[in-house]
Amino acid sequence: MKTDNNIIWHKSSITKADRHQLNNHRSCVLWFTGLSGSGKSTLANAIDMKLFELGVRSYILDGDNIRHGLNKGLGFNDTDRKENIRRIGEVSKLFVDSGQIVTTAFISPFREDRKTVREMFDEGEFIEIYVKCPLEICETRDPKGLYKKARTGDIPNFTGIGSPYEAPDAPELTIETNKLSLQDSVDKVIYYLIDQGLLCIK
Ligand code: ADX
Repeated sequence: MKTDNNIIWHKSSITKADRHQLNNHRSCVLWFTGLSGSGKSTLANAIDMKLFELGVRSYILDGDNIRHGLNKGLGFNDTDRKENIRRIGEVSKLFVDSGQIVTTAFISPFREDRKTVREMFDEGEFIEIYVKCPLEICETRDPKGLYKKARTGDIPNFTGIGSPYEAPDAPELTIETNKLSLQDSVDKVIYYLIDQGLLCIK
């Protein structure tokens, strides 16, 4: 995307590091990716609750919610999905810059788009979490009845059926929601954050 030459970046006086000091923790994006019905939103919400309890400033960006507002009007063809993810990448970057831990719950089916977002962040700030669950199980869960509609042809490009899902090659974490309990899944993410030194400032 071309940037106008007449638009000049204005540097803020308060830095991201200042905000980390104030919050007493670091900031990052927990980028959940996986099929519809794999458990991204459930997991993102449970982690957000745990972070809140720990006194960490956090926020959730959830696909279904963001598509009601900021990304209203974007559909599910490849171009719109790409734009959906690009915007969430930019919004996440603002949250990370504001010193918070932001969790995002978007299918984000394309490897290339996730890589583009990863490259927007400093080393260690983008944590890709593959919410892994076999399609058959997501389809059995079908919490919104959308797989049923996709099978009858009412949703032509539904992810996993009429549209591809490209699983991550090297995610920071993989959570198998058909094997791990919600509590164990939350613990796995929280321990990772502790291990990476993100929940404190050195
Ligand atoms: S993404 O592919 O662009 O990352 P996003 O996470 O924002 O998708 O939105 C996915 C949600 O939109 C699904 O959980 C589902 O509720 C709904 N949805 C509606 N149509 C589709 C579709 N064709 N493919 C996938 N999800 C869809």
